[in-house]
Amino acid sequence: MELIQDGLHQRLEYVKGVPLIKYFAEALGPLESFQARPDDLLISTYPKSGTTWVSQILDMIYQNGDLDKCHRAPIFMRVPFLEFKAPGVPSGLETLKDTPAPRLLKTHLPLALVPQTLLDQKVKFQLLRRLRWEDHLSLRVQDCSEVVYVARNAKDVAVSYHHFYQMAKVHPDPGTWDSFLEKFMAGEVCYGSWYQHVREWWELSCTHPVLYLFYEDMKENPKREIQKILEFVGRSLPEDTLDFIVQHTSFKEMKKNPMTNYSTLPKELMDHSISPFMRKGTAGDWKTTFTVAQNERFDADYEEKMAGCSLSFRSQL
Ligand code: A3P
Repeated sequence: MELIQDGLHQRLEYVKGVPLIKYFAEALGPLESFQARPDDLLISTYPKSGTTWVSQILDMIYQNGDLDKCHRAPIFMRVPFLEFKAPGVPSGLETLKDTPAPRLLKTHLPLALVPQTLLDQKVKFQLLRRLRWEDHLSLRVQDCSEVVYVARNAKDVAVSYHHFYQMAKVHPDPGTWDSFLEKFMAGEVCYGSWYQHVREWWELSCTHPVLYLFYEDMKENPKREIQKILEFVGRSLPEDTLDFIVQHTSFKEMKKNPMTNYSTLPKELMDHSISPFMRKGTAGDWKTTFTVAQNERFDADYEEKMAGCSLSFRSQL
């Protein structure tokens, strides 16, 4: 495959101060012509926070729990990844052309790089700002793309990201765990600062219809979190369908499902023998990787970076 040879371990490119994989940086120009639809639903996350999980949940909801329909294509075809671009595979924008409405879209972009069309509803935001959260749900703003954001505690994200950097070959060489952790804290990894990402999307949720979810809450009680999603997207399903969705979006099921585990991608792009995409799927796995010294340094730095932010994460259950 000619494709990825030239893409192996390329350096990150900075766009508006945000480090990105070179191909993703190249995709941002064409993405400017992207037109959001009012019924689009944007799934936004910092990488390794449960994007694939919530994508599968939402597609199962949109297909009324019909697993056969969710087997129609791999998750990255059912939920186009807006800024995705790599040689030899369809880009996010190309995938989007064949995606019927209502569309589920995925991005990891920080707000500065999100296509303006998705965030354009300024007049409506002013209105929403004065409303309580419950009112957001009943208002059902018609011309405003809604967002489901999933955040995961920084330590598990950093560990998961280090493994992902190694297996997904479009990333630069991650180096040792210790040096990667330093880069993660400095925001010098693809998509930049985790701290800024979780904070700015949290702040957006005051002015925009954003359902802000936590990976750890989804682990603790997936049914409760799926119910929140259902309510947010204005749908309801029978109890047994809801239970069916909980069951088929479990880590165990998604790990063996070729439509969710990324095993259909060429090995040159993702090498699951280095680390499977569906790796551990737990909360608190960071404890097997962080040294005591790394943990202390991380915590001190975290306090500074998250000072004054009302967000609170659980690093274990
Ligand atoms: P780990 O590497 O810690 O196992 P993303 O989809 O945003 O790239 O996130 C990938 C992470 O979510 C991986 O974490 C993966 O195992 C985990 N994950 C994927 N599906 C999951 C599920 N159904 N339940 C729990 N974790 C899941």
